[in-house]
Amino acid sequence: MDPIDINFKTVRVTPNSGALGAWVEGIDGKSTFPPDTFRELHRAFIRYKVLFFPDQHLSSQEFLVFARQWGSVQQNPYFQPLGNSSEITEIIKRPEDSRNIGRSWHMDFGFDEKPTNINLLMPRKLPRRGGDTLFCDLSKAFKALSPGLQQTLKALKVVNSNRDIVHAARYEKEFNGRLPQNNIEVRNIHPAVIHNPDNGEDSLFISATATERFDQWTAEESKPLLDYLYAHVARPDFCCRFSWEEGMVGVWSNLYTLHYAVNDYPDEERIMQRIALTGERLIAAG
Ligand code: SIN
Repeated sequence: MDPIDINFKTVRVTPNSGALGAWVEGIDGKSTFPPDTFRELHRAFIRYKVLFFPDQHLSSQEFLVFARQWGSVQQNPYFQPLGNSSEITEIIKRPEDSRNIGRSWHMDFGFDEKPTNINLLMPRKLPRRGGDTLFCDLSKAFKALSPGLQQTLKALKVVNSNRDIVHAARYEKEFNGRLPQNNIEVRNIHPAVIHNPDNGEDSLFISATATERFDQWTAEESKPLLDYLYAHVARPDFCCRFSWEEGMVGVWSNLYTLHYAVNDYPDEERIMQRIALTGERLIAAG
């Protein structure tokens, strides 16, 4: 079987798994994409939700220019700026840190009124092995639920907050002391199932770092169902795994996938640069 997706002409798209994710070759990330190439990239993004571009070797500034081709870059108030810029966040795990950032199935900024729609990540320093990122497809996971649970979830809303980050003083070591202490709590109520207008799919909208509970349910009442859903979305049937290499750039849908940073490289350093793009108001599934 030919692993390449023959539906793309201007770029070479090779799926990573049957569920989601693909490698994309044939672009120069340092240049502006020609319109027909960008149309194909956008189509690949909708189809695969997670795209990895090998051999790009971008500087931080080039990474920012690359990101701006995908949308409007969001400031990150939660980490100290990189140089003068709050547009690039550094995700660092030092050799002495036992825990890493991103060690649960989550989306970024899922608590915002208009949560980030696209995330970009680029390695600056990688461990000799390990440090992969896992992704799961929230639409495929939703589709695999029983019609009864789908209907129940469509009628529910979730309460999402940045509580984990605001109270992250207790994780200060993992955040390398770079978290400002004065962030205010943000809390928004979102649909538990959202609609993706680009492909017509419905998708769960939960995140282990943001979702406190279902709206009008207590945290205790919500926990069993949320735990069930986190176990469900993490089934290998809905997941893919990307191993980072120097020079790669990853771009993924922050709304319709969750990601998980694997912590399997004790005593080694891993430094990633991340850019988040501003999202739109969520559409509740009908
Ligand atoms: C993140 O959680 O946004 C970063 C993922 C990673 O470091 O692999």
